[in-house]
Amino acid sequence: MNVVDSEVVAAILQQHQYRVCDSLEEADLVLVNTCSIRDNAEQKVRSRIREFGRLKEKNHSFSVGVIGCMAERLKEKLLEEENTVDLVVGPDAYRDLPALLQEVESGQKGINTILSLEETYGDIRPVRMDQNHVTSFVAIMRGCNNFCAYCVVPGTRGRERSRDPETIVGEATELFSRGYREVTLLGQNVNSYCWKEGGSLLKFEKLLERVAGIDPSFRVRFATSHPKDMSDDLLKVIARYPNLCRSIHLPVQSGSTSVLERMKRRYTREHYMDRISAIRKYLPEATISTDIIAGFCGETEEEHQQTLSLMEWAGYDFAYMFKYSERPDTFAAEQLEDDVSEAVKSRRLSEIIELQNRLSLESKKRDVGLTFEVLVEGTSKKSSQQLYGRTSQNKVVVFPKKDLKPGDYTEVFITDCTSATLIGS
Ligand code: 5AD
Ligand code: SF4
Repeated sequence: MNVVDSEVVAAILQQHQYRVCDSLEEADLVLVNTCSIRDNAEQKVRSRIREFGRLKEKNHSFSVGVIGCMAERLKEKLLEEENTVDLVVGPDAYRDLPALLQEVESGQKGINTILSLEETYGDIRPVRMDQNHVTSFVAIMRGCNNFCAYCVVPGTRGRERSRDPETIVGEATELFSRGYREVTLLGQNVNSYCWKEGGSLLKFEKLLERVAGIDPSFRVRFATSHPKDMSDDLLKVIARYPNLCRSIHLPVQSGSTSVLERMKRRYTREHYMDRISAIRKYLPEATISTDIIAGFCGETEEEHQQTLSLMEWAGYDFAYMFKYSERPDTFAAEQLEDDVSEAVKSRRLSEIIELQNRLSLESKKRDVGLTFEVLVEGTSKKSSQQLYGRTSQNKVVVFPKKDLKPGDYTEVFITDCTSATLIGS
């Protein structure tokens, strides 16, 4: 989502005589687009800002702005605590950037962290900053109304709002005509996408059908779905369109119903398992990935074991795994005790990662000996004679270059694998 936001910001600034440059040496302005999801994300940003501070002292005349969630969360405090920072702009205030930059140019500090109920930047065509010109992102909604107990997002990105479908389909169509062959539709909770027009409602599955209809050779992915809204109707739509990719990201967070209740996730272990079974029924060839948090408030050893057993049952193909990090002003920070020790959190996270490494390897091994349609994305980092691409299932494949180029589709026979990559010919 921050990649797309940076592309939107570049588009807004481009209309005001700024352009994206390739090196810090050329830059008049550095914007750091930030994430507040865990404390370590914020610490990384702070050390980056201080690096810019040291460079600035050595005669660089650029201004430094902090944009995104950390700007929204910390507001004036960022200007007070980091004296390198000239500009602080929250996720809904990017249209104000040109005016704020004028203030900065006149020697003042600029700040706008007002959240909006309507802003979707729907009319802005992002300036693409991807490397491969094959895969891209399109934001279809902003904000989140779920208020999971641990999560800072509803506070930093504001209320949920959907973007006008005409602008989404228009942007995706333009990407396809420029040679892109894959789009990922983005939102904090894509399956609650809902556009109201003339008394009727356009839901996520309908939007997905419209984007899938652009061209059969245009792959469509989406992220992220919430298990409470993962409907059979959505899965049936995916099953009808071969270009709707066979990979579903469904964050579980914990395998224990009591932890899920404390997390305010609004589903049980059983409901989540029912949704996985539905995915397996309608999309038997799909891969399933997830997000997991280790050591949430009050998590017992038994509750942790339930996460491990659910992982094993689901046989996840891939997972993002985190230690719980208490975030200021969330329900958990205010009402629950962060009482699992750092050592226990680390040990539980290691157990989760170790199990996932095995599951990921098993998932890749199941593909050896099979053939997949792969969309070529670029040259492999390890060898200029090898290309890499992805299967519909979102697995990375490395294979010989021949006369293929990025954006081509090719059939790849899988000969070998690691836990992260398929190797083929
Ligand atoms: N601590 C650890 N992980 C978190 N996530 C969100 N908030 C926190 C937190 N406070 C994780 C969730 C979410 C992913 C984007 O980040 O797993 O799905
Ligand atoms: Fe955060 Fe929950 Fe919203 Fe995801 S659904 S962004 S975890 S509050």
